[in-house]
Amino acid sequence: MPHPLEQLREDALREIADAPAEQALEAARVKYVGKSGSISAWGDRMKTLAAEDRPVVGKLLNQVRDAVAAAIEARAAQFRARKDTDVLGKIDISLPGTPHEVGSLHPLTLILERSIQIFRRMGFALADGPDVEDEWHCFDALNTPPDHPARNEQDTFYLPDGRLLRTHTSTVQIRAMQAAAPPLRVIAPGAAYRRDEVDATHSAQFHQIEGLYVDENVSVADLKGAIEFFMHELFGPDTAVQFRPHYFPFTEPSLEIYVKSKALKRGEQWIEVAGSGMVHPAVFEAVNEARGDDAYDPDRWTGYAFGLGMDRLAMILFDIPDIRLFAQNDLRFLKQFA
Ligand code: DAH
Repeated sequence: MPHPLEQLREDALREIADAPAEQALEAARVKYVGKSGSISAWGDRMKTLAAEDRPVVGKLLNQVRDAVAAAIEARAAQFRARKDTDVLGKIDISLPGTPHEVGSLHPLTLILERSIQIFRRMGFALADGPDVEDEWHCFDALNTPPDHPARNEQDTFYLPDGRLLRTHTSTVQIRAMQAAAPPLRVIAPGAAYRRDEVDATHSAQFHQIEGLYVDENVSVADLKGAIEFFMHELFGPDTAVQFRPHYFPFTEPSLEIYVKSKALKRGEQWIEVAGSGMVHPAVFEAVNEARGDDAYDPDRWTGYAFGLGMDRLAMILFDIPDIRLFAQNDLRFLKQFA
């Protein structure tokens, strides 16, 4: 005659195998191996057995418990698999999928990345400064006196506390020189802000790459060489580059940079793309005063600086007719650069 536990195992395994759904399986689990299940009850009953019977029955109890637990898990796995097939069966894999839109880099990001790469090859390191600046970094240190038109409230976004949105990235020249002694070779890409009348070529926010190279014996020839190399890399080797005399308070001499490239749609036209020049001694003096040393001794060090208009460069390179397109988020425009 089988042991009652063996009988219980047989009953349990049959019920588990026959369970038509999860609820029935759960009911069988509670009935046999739940807290007060009939198999579990044998755990308590062990104490009442004769000492010599205990090891045999104990071993059997463990086997029964394990067998029942394994059967429950196997049946539950079958139910889970069935559920998956039910769900998957309802999916019509012949239907067209939901297309996933792939984004692309903004044309300004593209031109910034390309430009930074070119300057890095020339040994320029990246520098950075805040968009919200103080007047000293934006004007005074750059030899721009209080009565200069750029400091006019009409041209500049001032904050109530006297700070302002930087009108150019030249601020980073000063910050870079405050932070490190010469020689120094940095570029600073970033946004600049002016209270301009917005039209096809003017925007309240635009982008520049500032460049600064300070060393012994830096000359205008170095400036011209670096800029020409950059323009040829960006626009092609046929690109003509022109330097025209100009005035900036923070450089002497100062030069405006123009390009004309055969490869471009607007090729037969000189287009102004940057300001540049040799760093004015007064700028070095202002930096020395702030640093409290003579690191930028204007008798020993010379430097060139430039500020490239990135929106302008992108408009030329990609033949974009209106600067406002950069900020309108029109996908028909942006998708053309994917
Ligand atoms: N900061 C000038 C501007 O935004 C551009 C410029 C001119 C930058 C001459 C320079 C420079 O570094 O040397 O119009």
